[in-house]
Amino acid sequence: MDMPIMDQAAPGRIEERPLGQSFGAELVGLRIAGDLPEDEFAAYLDAFHRHHLLLVRNVPFDPGAHVAFSRRMGPLELHSQTRFTLDTHPEIFCVGNHTVDGVLKANFARGVEQWHADSSYREIPSAASLFYGVICPPEGGETWFIDAAGAYADLPEETKAGIDGLRTVHSLATLAEWGRRHNPDRPPLTEEQTSKWPPVSQPLVRTHPVTGVKSLFLCPAVISHVEGLDPEASRALIDGLMAHASKEKYIYRHQWREGDLVIWDNRCMLHTATLFDHEKYQRLMHRTTVAGA
Ligand code: OGA
Ligand code: MN
Repeated sequence: MDMPIMDQAAPGRIEERPLGQSFGAELVGLRIAGDLPEDEFAAYLDAFHRHHLLLVRNVPFDPGAHVAFSRRMGPLELHSQTRFTLDTHPEIFCVGNHTVDGVLKANFARGVEQWHADSSYREIPSAASLFYGVICPPEGGETWFIDAAGAYADLPEETKAGIDGLRTVHSLATLAEWGRRHNPDRPPLTEEQTSKWPPVSQPLVRTHPVTGVKSLFLCPAVISHVEGLDPEASRALIDGLMAHASKEKYIYRHQWREGDLVIWDNRCMLHTATLFDHEKYQRLMHRTTVAGA
């Protein structure tokens, strides 16, 4: 008879270990594969909606399984920067400073924190992202997450009433300007990108389609303005809400180990990359992005 091993959940049973202060759990025993039985997948989705962020450790490197599992959650985005997607799996977008024969193979952003939810500049933004550590620096290069639902819930009632119906304009051009301020060697947006991704209107307070929970949809580097407000008032409102949401009590910092898969719910969380010593270390992350408002 097989003896149970300490660090493994019993077959079919997935163990949940809380991670952050108000959200996030490590799942032990979840297999990342496209053919996960329906009941196991339903249990996983249930955990996802309760915790908003899930970590699975020691996931074997398998882009095909990463894509197949991700697709169970919904249609996958194809990223606009095809030079950083995998030839074999175009649904996988590479992030980091990884170079092969001197050629950069991943999207590398050098800059300060930039809180966002993925793909907010698309008409249909992203519901969830699945981010996998292929090569992780031993220090730095953490990803930080904000409980945007908790931050909204704690606002004074009059602030909630004042912002509930507001809409913001998210623009790839605004993001590109921000990117070029921090990475002057980046090429400007092409005509094709500008026409393919025109500015879009998004709610400032996002309502989760499954849980009904409201959260702050803040992407300071992507939002050009709040509709109906002048640029200064827009900036002041966004910056004020961002200062509130980025308080320590809403944050979870993930320090990556190779083989980590972190799955987060863009519909109630914000996140940002952080710096690392990119001259000393390589970093390569694989991201799939599930579309959904
Ligand atoms: C992203 C992202 C975070 C990181 O790829 O969308 O936010 O830590 N990455 O690289
Ligand atoms: Mn992101």
